[in-house]
Amino acid sequence: CGIVGYIGPKQAAPFLIEGLTKLEYRGYDSAGIAVFDGKEINVEKSVGRLGVLKKKVESDSPIGCIGIGHTRWATHGRPSDVNSHPHTDCSGKFVVVHNGIIENYLHLKEKLITKGHVFSSETDTEVVAHLVEEYYEGDFEAAVRKVLTEIEGSYALVFMTEHEPDKIICTKQDNPLVIGLGNGENFVASDIPAIISRTRKTYILSDGEMAIVTKDSVWVMNRQGVPITKKVFEVNWDAEAAEKGGYEHFMIKEIYEQPKAVRETMSGRLAKDDSHIIFDELKWTPEEVAGINKIAIVACGTAYHAGIVGKYYLENLARIPVEVDVASEFRYRSPLVDDKTLVIVISQSGETLDTLAGLKEAKRLGARTLAITNVVGSSIAREADHVIYTWAGPEIAVASTKAYTTQLVTLCMLSIYVAALRETLAAAKVKELIQGLRDLPAQAHEILEDVEPIKTFAQQYGFNEDVFFIGRALDYCVALEGSLKLKEISYIHAEAYAAGELKHGTLALIIEGVPVIALATQPDVYEKMLSNIKEVKARDAVVIGIAMKGDDHIRNYVDHAIYIPDAHKYLAPLLAVIPLQLLAYYAAITRGCDVDKPRNLAKSVTVE
Ligand code: G6P
Repeated sequence: CGIVGYIGPKQAAPFLIEGLTKLEYRGYDSAGIAVFDGKEINVEKSVGRLGVLKKKVESDSPIGCIGIGHTRWATHGRPSDVNSHPHTDCSGKFVVVHNGIIENYLHLKEKLITKGHVFSSETDTEVVAHLVEEYYEGDFEAAVRKVLTEIEGSYALVFMTEHEPDKIICTKQDNPLVIGLGNGENFVASDIPAIISRTRKTYILSDGEMAIVTKDSVWVMNRQGVPITKKVFEVNWDAEAAEKGGYEHFMIKEIYEQPKAVRETMSGRLAKDDSHIIFDELKWTPEEVAGINKIAIVACGTAYHAGIVGKYYLENLARIPVEVDVASEFRYRSPLVDDKTLVIVISQSGETLDTLAGLKEAKRLGARTLAITNVVGSSIAREADHVIYTWAGPEIAVASTKAYTTQLVTLCMLSIYVAALRETLAAAKVKELIQGLRDLPAQAHEILEDVEPIKTFAQQYGFNEDVFFIGRALDYCVALEGSLKLKEISYIHAEAYAAGELKHGTLALIIEGVPVIALATQPDVYEKMLSNIKEVKARDAVVIGIAMKGDDHIRNYVDHAIYIPDAHKYLAPLLAVIPLQLLAYYAAITRGCDVDKPRNLAKSVTVE
């Protein structure tokens, strides 16, 4: 989502609309603005692209010099007029815009309802507006501070009230927020592109900071009210770089967003005591699940590769047979699917035509269907019986990165969830896995902190015409995705092979100097993997091993070793894929390819 705010001598609405236009790339299923006209706050919002709101505002613009706005990428509550931001309390005197997820909103909502609050939307955000109203006793700042002690989750929040119309209050936790410093006017935005045309002087807020913004001043403090001296950050990026948050491409930005995307996708879904998974959207019973004797996973491209990992998870943890198909094959092969089959479709966009057609075919055959998608209200989300959303945020680069890792996290959580209903997993194992999931964001971050070895390697071998990826078990699944990434954006021919299968054909292609990426993160097949590495080394391949930290032994077998943090074996794919994404990225850069828009490919394929 995108956030904007204005306070100053000029009309707010034109800036709010202009700022939102610059942020539309962050989410675009609905938009809205709220402006104080001297007497009351007027809210204009509507579902659809920003153009719809623009049209409304053009003919009847809200008047006033203080306002806030939002462009939405739905997470809680489908895209609709009422679910659009800004949200107000019952009186309409408090208004708020929000990016992120309020994890305990259901609990807060129930409490507020018993106190007489009436809710009009399905969003998590609306509780925040009602909470400020509940706590307001003549001091806006104190009320907001009290709200912050109640809410849990991630947020960038911007508040405004009719009671104190000389200020905007904003705060953040795990979501970006910047304040643009003007002359006699100030701006608030989730991202720099929104304000760059007005000012280059900014304060970048840190987690836990809160700012009181008036037209002439900006006071920054912590949540307890202790003042904080901020350094002015001068933005020297051009508008295009600003859109990418200072990164050179969307793909690398999205690679770096993975710790956050993974964390958000898990938020509110891991029980506090690590004992179980919470999927409010499913609420399945043991009886319902007992009626399923097979799962079919259907998807395309990267989502298909996530599905292959899903097969491992579901079969190993929930002990249920799973088959995985690319959607274009599934729909024409008369699949053995009936009312005892659960068909899981995976799609980042929720619009891929083959996947949608596969879903429809599954329904026609009487299967129960579940969609895992990143886009709320997408065609696939609407068509499926059940939906689990990944909360990765918009993915713009054609080559999918954060969508894949969040799909994996979702599939792992789903497998633990189904395992609990089928009683196939011991409590200690569940705990171990959930704790492993919790560690992932920090571990992903650790990999991203030191990319130099991968960069160097990509520069060194980026001009080779063939690269091989090998692995066993879950490492093989990751090899498939690594190979696809490299092909998609660097146009290097790449093959992924189950390491044990090499000798049945592909070994003939391994000659001196051919790079082989060998994944060796899976303890159960580690020794076997070393034998396969020896096989390619004997043909003089250049081997890059991807292994878990602490595995010094592998250095004896490979030319270069790249380490990922020591993770639960089921979760290693989420980490092992990151060096491969980076490898593809830097190889494409080395070769001068158009990373975000590779030739002949599209982000969302809505044709057969
Ligand atoms: C296109 C994209 C791929 C993506 C695939 C499936 O081919 O280029 O990156 O994996 O579609 O997309 P979906 O939105 O269904 O996950």
